[in-house]
Amino acid sequence: MSDFSYDVIVIGGGPGGYVCAIRAAQLGLKTACIESRGSLGGTCLNLGCIPSKALLQSSHLYEEANHHFAGHGIKVDGLKLDLKTMMGRKNDVVTQLTQGIEFLLKKNKIDYLKGFGSISRTVTGAHEVTVKPGGKGKAQKYTAKNVVIATGSEVTPLPGVEIDEKKIVSSTGALDLAKVPKSMVIIGAGVIGLEMGSVWRRLGAEVTVVEYLDCILPPMDAEVRKQMQRILEKQGLQFKLGAKVTEAKASKTGVSVKVESAAGGKAETLKADVVLVAIGRRPYIENLGLDNAGVKVTDRGFVEVDDHFQTNVEGIFAIGDVIGGMMLAHKAEDEGVVVAESLTGLTPHINYDAIASVVYTWPEVAGVGKTEEQLKDAGIKYKSGKFPFTANSRARSNGESDGFVKILADAESDELLGCHIIGPAAGDLIMEVSVGMEFAASAEDIARTCHAHPQLGEAVKEAALAVDKRPIHM
Ligand code: FAD
Ligand code: NAI
Repeated sequence: MSDFSYDVIVIGGGPGGYVCAIRAAQLGLKTACIESRGSLGGTCLNLGCIPSKALLQSSHLYEEANHHFAGHGIKVDGLKLDLKTMMGRKNDVVTQLTQGIEFLLKKNKIDYLKGFGSISRTVTGAHEVTVKPGGKGKAQKYTAKNVVIATGSEVTPLPGVEIDEKKIVSSTGALDLAKVPKSMVIIGAGVIGLEMGSVWRRLGAEVTVVEYLDCILPPMDAEVRKQMQRILEKQGLQFKLGAKVTEAKASKTGVSVKVESAAGGKAETLKADVVLVAIGRRPYIENLGLDNAGVKVTDRGFVEVDDHFQTNVEGIFAIGDVIGGMMLAHKAEDEGVVVAESLTGLTPHINYDAIASVVYTWPEVAGVGKTEEQLKDAGIKYKSGKFPFTANSRARSNGESDGFVKILADAESDELLGCHIIGPAAGDLIMEVSVGMEFAASAEDIARTCHAHPQLGEAVKEAALAVDKRPIHM
């Protein structure tokens, strides 16, 4: 049995799982990582973050060449879209990166167990995990002192709308369409809806987004939501807010979609070549053997954990999308590191307030910490400083001046409480505020840090100065 026993077995090779495995191995623990999909990297590398960003980049370049090069004095004749090459490039990026993770596991002497893992029996100090390879492979049992569940999430289905990944697609199908649809209806104005909607609109589809709530990107700061909606509408996305889809039926000629007001009432029928269902994701715990182990889940199916990511069963932990909260790759990674380090007696911490969310539309949207609405609800007194990219010389030089930076700081102590950005490279710009928040910095600390010129980051400094009502360039 000794060859098959580990200090840690991680079930799931996504950003949560593989990062946890690497950190555990770095700390000297004998580690295995089980993955069933045939390649490492999870949803993020295979069907999420990476392929979507590859298509966002390619479609952005196409849009630039189509609509913006001329303003720079660059004329392009005979511009043509080669979707097959664009998709091929996206697939190549995915393959290179997923193989890179396999290399990292080898380098760290982690056993990569290919197959579907389930907890078959549990005793304190030695949990038993069975791995079933695909096809006719024989199941193998392993034991581990600690098991980390990192099985991620799957698409939330919508009753009355059956996904076939051809005409009615989830994000998976939307990342792999063989031709540009003339028209596309997207259900859900969240992150996937806006990112994939941007890709296909740039490539030529007429896109209508149906959203149940009366705003897009519901968790974001309200000012950001409103301005972003205007920017996306100007680009050509159409929104039907406060509306729900009650049925979508695919036929040879396309899909007919029944839409009515969220409050109910008379339905209208939209016609589309393709419908994308993007109403959120739910935890993936199928056949994982949680019952065998006695692991508790919440009423929404998320694995329940304590502050140290331990489930109610000693030695069984869970991280990433499967425990809920922000469903983000970097959040899953950090939770993986915390579990691995806790197992070796270190005392890591995770500060969810300093974890940024980024939407990779153009311009990008990024947020960290509290929104103005959350601060008002909590009765926290705050100061706000805002700076528009129209007043930033680099954004003007680049011809990309939509958006603003807004910094929120405590009214008395000036400590950073949040930052919200719409703008070019907002996802990169926000990181200086995340670092500041990790160190309990004040807005004044950012305002007094010399920012290189001419840089987009000067807008962050100016927003910090604006907190104290002393911006220079506005
Ligand atoms: P996952 O990445 O889902 O990995 C879980 C893995 O476990 C899977 O590979 C699965 O096959 C495997 N597995 C499940 N059960 C078993 C089992 N029993 N045995 C063996 N293996 C099993 N997040 C960002 O931060 N930035 C982005 O830009 C971004 N873009 C996204 C775009 C799209 C279209 C989607 C769908 C998601 C995106 N996300 C993004 C979210 C991100 O992908 C997830 O938050 C992240 O992948 C969660 O990591 P995880 O390790 O918890 O789970
Ligand atoms: P989401 O939670 O971001 O958005 C879902 C949207 O659908 C919400 O606005 C919700 O109000 C709406 N909705 C729910 N039910 C509906 C209905 N019946 N009809 C109409 N609208 C409805 O979920 P999404 O976009 O599916 O993404 C899933 C997860 O993937 C997110 O949690 C996100 O964190 C992650 N992701 C992250 C990305 C990033 O970090 N850039 C990119 C893509 C996904």
